[in-house]
Amino acid sequence: MLFNETTVSGFTVKNRIMRSATHDGLADANGAPSDKLIEKYVQLAQGEVGCIITGYAAVSRNGVSPYPRMLTIFDDSVIGRYKALTDAVHEYSVPVVLQLAHCGRQTSSKAIGMQKVAPSNVLHTFYPDKAKELTDGEIYAIIGDFVAAAVRAEKAGFDAVQLHGGHGYLLHDFLSPFGNRRKDSWGGSLENRVRIVELIIKGIKAKTKLPVWIKISAEDNRKGGMNIASSVEICKLLEKAGCDAIEVSCGTVQDGMNTMRSKLMPMDAVFKYREPCASFPKWLNAIALPAANLVNPLIKQPSPLENFNVGNAEKIKNSVSIPVIAVGGIHKVSDMENILASGKANFVSMCRPFICEPNLVKKLKNGQEQARCIMCNYCGLVIEKEPTRCLYGRVK
Ligand SMILES: Cc1cc2nc3c(=O)[nH]c(=O)nc-3n(C[C@H](O)[C@H](O)[C@H](O)COP(=O)(O)O)c2cc1C
Ligand code: SF4
Repeated sequence: MLFNETTVSGFTVKNRIMRSATHDGLADANGAPSDKLIEKYVQLAQGEVGCIITGYAAVSRNGVSPYPRMLTIFDDSVIGRYKALTDAVHEYSVPVVLQLAHCGRQTSSKAIGMQKVAPSNVLHTFYPDKAKELTDGEIYAIIGDFVAAAVRAEKAGFDAVQLHGGHGYLLHDFLSPFGNRRKDSWGGSLENRVRIVELIIKGIKAKTKLPVWIKISAEDNRKGGMNIASSVEICKLLEKAGCDAIEVSCGTVQDGMNTMRSKLMPMDAVFKYREPCASFPKWLNAIALPAANLVNPLIKQPSPLENFNVGNAEKIKNSVSIPVIAVGGIHKVSDMENILASGKANFVSMCRPFICEPNLVKKLKNGQEQARCIMCNYCGLVIEKEPTRCLYGRVK
C-alpha cells in the first residue's frame, strides 16, 4: 500500500509518502524560488517522493517570516520562477503543492518593515513587539491576498495549494481561542473563528480549479488553545467549506520543540543561531553554553518523539471523508505501513528525514528500514540565520 501509486485531489502520486512543507531559506531576493531551491526540489523528485509540499510562501507583505529568504507570492513578478520550479518537478511526474502562509504575530515588525498584525494582540515570547489587531477591512484584504496567491499558484502550474493553518501563524491564531480574543464576528464561537479560513477556501474555489488543503495544529499546548475535540469540529466545517485534504500537525514556534520533537534541546545551535544568544559576546558564550549544556538534560521535552500526531490524525479521519495526512516523527517503514493499513491516515508526510536524505523514498523502497535522521533538531535552528541544512547532531 505504502509504495503503490494512487490519486489524491484528482492527481496521481507514485506512493503515499509526502514531503511536508519545509522552509529552505533559498528564495531569491524577490522571494521567488532560486536555482538552488529548484535543484533541491529536483533531487526530492528524483528520489521518488510521492508529492512535494513547498516551504511556506507569504501571501502578504506584512505576513513575511523573520527567517531569511522565505518564499513570497504576493506579487505577479514571481510567477515565472515558480513556473520554472513546477516544470522542473513535473519532469519526474511528481506533483507539487504550494503552501500559503501569513506569519501574523509570529514575526517581528522590524523584519517586515511595518507593524505586524494578528487577530488579537497577544504577547509572543519570541517576538514580543506589539501586533496590531486587524480591522474588518484588513481581514478581508488578507482573505483577498490568499485568493490572489492561489490564482498565481495556478498560473505557475502547482497541483494544489495548502493553507498553513498551524504552528502559531495567522490562521492558527484565528482558529484558536488562545490567539483569537475577538468579540466580533471573527471571534468567540467556533463558527466565528473558522470564518476566515472558510472564506479563503471558498474564494480560492471561486477563482481557481485548484484543490485546497490545510495543515493544522490539532493541539497547541496553549492555555485554552487548540485541542483535539475542537479540531475535529473545525475540520468538519472546513470539509463543508470545500477543503480537499487535511495534514495533522501540532504545536507552535513558541512552545519550543513540540512541532518537531527531539530528546534534547540542541544547545550549541541555540547559541549559534537564535537571538539573543547568537549575539552574545564570545566571553559570555564561553560561560553560558557549558552551563546550558549542564542543565539541558533537566529541561523536559515533549513526548513521545515518534508518530506523535497519528492519534489525532485518526480522530480527524474518523470524522471527515477527505484525505488525512499524518506528520511528525514518522520515520520507520513499519510504522508508515501500520498507519495506512490500520486506517489512521491516508498519507504520511515527513520533513526532517528529507532534509537529511532527499532521496529517502528510493532508499526505503530498496529496503532501508528507516530514515537516518536522528531528530536532533539542529536544522530547526540553522534556519534562523542561514539556508536549511542537516547538521546531524552538531554545529559545523
Ligand atoms: C527546517 C524546518 C523547516 C520547516 N518549515 C515548515 C514550513 O515551511 N511549513 C510548515 O508547515 N512546517 C514546517 N516545518 C515543520 C514540518 O513540516 C513538520 O511539521 C515537523 O518538522 C514534524 O515533522 P518531522 O518529524 O517529519 O520533521 C519545518 C520544520 C523544519 C525542521
Ligand atoms: S539536523 Fe539532520 S539529523 Fe538532525 S533533525 Fe535535522 S535533518 Fe535530522
